[in-house]
Amino acid sequence: MPKIRSVYRCQTCGFAAPKPGTCPDCARTGSFVALIEERPLASRSERPQLAAGTKPMPIRDIAVEAGDRILTGIGELDRVLGGGVVPGSLVLIGGDPGIGKSTLLLQACRALAERQGPVLYVSGEESAAQVKLRANRLGIAPKALYFLAETDLQVIEAHAAELRPRALIVDSIQTVFLPGLESSPGSVSQVRECAARLMLLAKGRGMAAFLVGHVTKDGAIAGPRVLEHLVDTVLYFEGEQHHAYRILRAVKNRFGSTNEIGVFEMGELGLTEVSNPSGFFLAERPRGAAGSVIVSSLEGTRPLLLEMQALVTPASFGTPRRTVLGADYNRVCLLLAVLEKRLGFPLQSQDVFVNVAGGARVTEPASDLGIAIAAASSYLDRPVRGDVVIMGEVGLTGEVRAVAGFTARLKEAAALGFAAAVVPQNNLGGKNLAGEAVHPLNVQGVGSVDEAVKTLLGQ
Ligand code: TYD
Ligand code: MG
Repeated sequence: MPKIRSVYRCQTCGFAAPKPGTCPDCARTGSFVALIEERPLASRSERPQLAAGTKPMPIRDIAVEAGDRILTGIGELDRVLGGGVVPGSLVLIGGDPGIGKSTLLLQACRALAERQGPVLYVSGEESAAQVKLRANRLGIAPKALYFLAETDLQVIEAHAAELRPRALIVDSIQTVFLPGLESSPGSVSQVRECAARLMLLAKGRGMAAFLVGHVTKDGAIAGPRVLEHLVDTVLYFEGEQHHAYRILRAVKNRFGSTNEIGVFEMGELGLTEVSNPSGFFLAERPRGAAGSVIVSSLEGTRPLLLEMQALVTPASFGTPRRTVLGADYNRVCLLLAVLEKRLGFPLQSQDVFVNVAGGARVTEPASDLGIAIAAASSYLDRPVRGDVVIMGEVGLTGEVRAVAGFTARLKEAAALGFAAAVVPQNNLGGKNLAGEAVHPLNVQGVGSVDEAVKTLLGQ
C-alpha cells in the first residue's frame, strides 16, 4: 500500500506545508488547499504492476508486429521518428523557446486525430483560447482533437484514462507537476518523476506520447537533457531565430536511426516541409562572385549543399581579424595557416570573414577544402565557377583527404543540376563512377589544396 499523508499545498507556487496559513515561499494568503497525497514511487514495491505477466523469453521467439507505427502526416517528422511514431513510446521534443515545438506538434495532431482517433493536447503554457487561435490560423480543426489546459499530472492521467487517446501531447514537461513531490514544477525531480509517470501511462495504454522540453540557459529549470536517458526518442528542433528554416534532429531513437534530419520552414501558415533543403539554402546564391563556393555537408545520412562565403580584405592595423559564422573557428584558422604556409598566401596582413549563407552550420571536416577555396578565391578576387561542388578534408600538410558518404554527396549535387565536383583523389582511387547515377557530373580528384586552387582558380 502506498503511504498516505495529508499536506497543505500552496496553489500558487506549489509549496507544501503541514498547516494552512500564509505561504512562506510566495507570501500569498489563503492559497493553501488541503490535499491527501500519495507519495509517488516511494519504494519499488509500490510501482504499478504493469509488467506483470512478462517473462524472459528466447529472443528468436519474440514476435515483432510489423506496421504498428502510426503516421503523423508530416513526412519529415515521420522520417526522423523512423517511419512514424510507435504506439506506447515516449518522444521528447527539445528546443529553444519560440523555435516552433508547439506548432510542429499541433500540426502533427491534425493527421493523428483525423486518422487514428482521439488525441489529447495538454498545455500548461498556453490557454485554450491561445491554442485555438493558433489552430484556426493553421486550419486545424479535427473532431477528435481534444485540448486541456492543465498542469497537475494526476488530473492529466485521469483525463487520459477517460478519453483513451491514441496520442498524448504534453506541452511542456517543465510545467506539469506531481502534487506529491516537494519540489516546484520544472525542477529536476519533478520533471523526471512526471516523465517517468507519463512513460508508464504511454506504455500501459499503448498510446504515443510527445513531451515538449524547453532548452533552458540557466539551471533553475531542468532542461530536456535530464530526460534523455528515460524516453524512447529524443528529437531536437533547431534553427536560428532570424532565419525561417528549422532542422529536426534525432539524437536518440530506440525505434529508428539517429542519422536522420528533417528540414522545415516557418512561415505564415506554420511549418512547411522542405523536401529539397539544398535548393532552399542555395536559393539566393550569387553567381560568379569571388569568395562564394558550394560545399557538401552530410547531415546524418543526408547530404546538404551549402554556400560557403569568405571575405578576405587587407587588415588596417594590429592583429588581423578572424570572424567565423556557421563553421568551427579553430578549423578556419588551421585552414588559413595551411594557405599561408603551403601556398604562400600572405594572410597575416588580411582580415578574414567566413560565413555559411542562410544561417546554416557546417560541422564536418568535408567542408575544409571549400573553406580554403572560398578564402583563396576572395583573396585573389577570382570567382569559382558557379556549377561546381567542392568537398574534401584538409590536413596540416595541405593534403586533401577522403570524405565519408562520397557517392551520396555526388548524387545530391547531380540531382540539383551541378555540372562538376572537385573531390579528394583518394575517394576516386580507381573507383568506377559509371552507373552510380552521378552523371552528368564531371568529377575531378585533387590530392592537395594547391592542386585544388590551381584547378578551380587557375593559379
Ligand atoms: P511555437 O510553436 O510557439 O514555439 P515553441 O513552442 O517552441 O516555444 O512557435 C513560436 C514562434 O513561431 C513564434 O515566434 C511565432 C512563430 N510562428 C510563425 O511564424 N508562424 C506560425 O504559423 C506559427 C504558428 C508560429
Ligand atoms: Mg510552445
